Amino acid sequence: MGCENSKSDSNDEDEIQEHEDEFNENRVDSIKSTWPILTRDRMQTGSNLFRHIFLVEPRIKALFKRDRSMTDEEVLHSIEFKHHVERFMHSMDQVVENIDKDRDNVEHMLLILGAKHATYDGFKEDYFSVYANCMIDTWESVIGEEFIKEVRESWELLVAYVISRETRQILHLIIKQDSSKEYDSSS
Ligand code: HEM
Repeated sequence: MGCENSKSDSNDEDEIQEHEDEFNENRVDSIKSTWPILTRDRMQTGSNLFRHIFLVEPRIKALFKRDRSMTDEEVLHSIEFKHHVERFMHSMDQVVENIDKDRDNVEHMLLILGAKHATYDGFKEDYFSVYANCMIDTWESVIGEEFIKEVRESWELLVAYVISRETRQILHLIIKQDSSKEYDSSS
């Protein structure tokens, strides 16, 4: 068990190092120069992303329903949905702002966010992959012609970084839960 933990820690470090090397000046520039386009209408961009997510994985909508009687259309106009879009865009502000500065704080924020999402009823870790794919498609539709190869690759790197940090905490929670179940059944 101890060995497994130290192995995963060293993998984590390798991964962090990998991102350190990949977020070079050009990539940071591609991300920072296109974020203002994406935030020209923050609510529109964020809503488009989550609408796209709901089309790809309709089950995700249920997470934003106050009660079962809420229709899909009501979800899209609900205060809960709009708040989440705002919160999501605000988190991305922080990631983009600090990607070449204070990466420790961003990592901490993402770890906590991952842990919180894992506690939401019906949330599945796979949903972060749906989010990652949909984000690239949505960014392409908003950025348009300026979404050149270098820009796409930079955002792909950033979204991979975001979900790797968010899901790491979920994995830790699952491992913890499983080992406490093992302990319970053997005791
Ligand atoms: C498919 C992907 C996602 C789903 C289904 C999802 C769902 C949720 C739900 C149900 C909540 C709780 C209700 C609420 O506060 O609105 C929540 C909270 C939140 N989400 Fe997400 N989320 C997703 C992805 C993300 C991502 C990628 C980010 C940021 C990078 C994010 C940022 C937040 C924040 C900041 C909160 C508030 C947490 C708090 O209470 O402190 N979400 N999310």
